[in-house]
Amino acid sequence: MNQSAPIQIVFRNIHKADSHTLAVYLAGGGYKAVVRALARTPEEVIEEVKKSGIRGRGGAGFPAGIKWSFIPRVSHRPKYLVCNADEGEPGTCKDRDILRYDPHRLIEGMIIAGHAVGAERGYIYIRGEFFHESQRVEAAIRDAYAKGYLGENIFGKGIRFDLAIHLGGGAYVCGEETALLESLEGKKGQPRVKPPFPANVGLWGGPTVINNVETLASIPDIIEHGGAWYASLGVEKSTGTKIFSVSGHVNRPGNHEVAMGIPLKTLLETHAGGVRGGWDNLKGVIPGGSSSPILTRAACETVTMDYDSIAKAGSMLGSGAVIVLDRSVCVVRAIARLSRFYRHESCGQCTPCREGTGWLSQIMDRLEAGGGQRGDIELLEELCGNISGKTICALGDAAAMPVAGAIRAFREEFVHHVAHGRCMVE
Ligand SMILES: Cc1cc2nc3c(=O)[nH]c(=O)nc-3n(C[C@H](O)[C@H](O)[C@H](O)COP(=O)(O)O)c2cc1C
Ligand code: SF4
Repeated sequence: MNQSAPIQIVFRNIHKADSHTLAVYLAGGGYKAVVRALARTPEEVIEEVKKSGIRGRGGAGFPAGIKWSFIPRVSHRPKYLVCNADEGEPGTCKDRDILRYDPHRLIEGMIIAGHAVGAERGYIYIRGEFFHESQRVEAAIRDAYAKGYLGENIFGKGIRFDLAIHLGGGAYVCGEETALLESLEGKKGQPRVKPPFPANVGLWGGPTVINNVETLASIPDIIEHGGAWYASLGVEKSTGTKIFSVSGHVNRPGNHEVAMGIPLKTLLETHAGGVRGGWDNLKGVIPGGSSSPILTRAACETVTMDYDSIAKAGSMLGSGAVIVLDRSVCVVRAIARLSRFYRHESCGQCTPCREGTGWLSQIMDRLEAGGGQRGDIELLEELCGNISGKTICALGDAAAMPVAGAIRAFREEFVHHVAHGRCMVE
């Protein structure tokens, strides 16, 4: 298919007046897919989702159908479905739009997912700052209960599915799925050691599926039009559409839903209004949220927005937050700012992350302020190597990757900072 053409699945409704209401959702064909899904066995629904090839939109890109199939069919503890609406990755702002403009799409996706994995209870963990969004979702849940779409006997099928909201306290780490479960249980939001994985021991010890808002909001269309149809969009191993949150130095920042596999250059030049000052003014792009390594302009010329292409270019699709930096930006300063964020957000459980994020941030700040010392760049690289893969959760990697990636892509700027005590671009 033509990856460049506009296509809207998850965002189909959001430009309609009162798109958040049940009446508008129903008028657009809403809650038909769930009726179809309930007429099929859970195994059939999981098969359809597997066929679609959809990969989780929260960052890790794990195939949703496979994740659902890990949930044991028989369990002596209740099973749970949890929607991750924490949306903490800097640069990402897509889930928020789904929550506030199309909450019923998410609810429908969750009912289908609940049926597929045999969960009778679902939770939407919404970041605390999304107060207005949570009110919208709350109202939508109330309307769904009133219609009999939620509760003891959904759609008159003798199946139970209850849904509730939980507001987070504002910690980035609570977006990590096991920290989120701890927080949902009323404890301090710290990641759990895995295994066991949530599919076996999750919320209150029960088998639990955790999916991102965008993942779940994609499910109704997969059921309505079929997994094969969804898989025909995008490219192999990166199927369907993706909402990219484009921010920074473009003329039209915002959320853009496009088919996976679109060239990054087309995304920026056609959908996001072009790089400020023209393409040649581009310095680099952080393609998948603040945790993903920066790409140089040369890489941006050819990379396409799918898991494989971005990985080959040395970065990650992540949550799809595309941060565009033009030539006025000091890379050292930009990464120093991110390092401060990760230092602040480390939960402190594991030494490489707790100490390492502090060291990274201190050295980055020192470099930025003109106090860089000979050996600092090598020290940063060594620190990144000592954090990556050695921690309980991926926050440690998330802190190390932007630093290591920036040194790889823009080493000369780091060298200039050390040698001259100032930036070469500002
Ligand atoms: C530090 C950290 C923060 C995360 N924050 C979020 C988040 O805000 N939203 C989200 O959906 N996933 C987040 N994730 C990923 C989740 O752990 C999990 O993989 C995801 O919710 C699974 O949903 P998906 O399979 O639909 O992508 C985060 C991971 C880490 C390590
Ligand atoms: S990696 Fe960092 S945030 Fe994750 S558990 Fe360890 S200390 Fe906490």
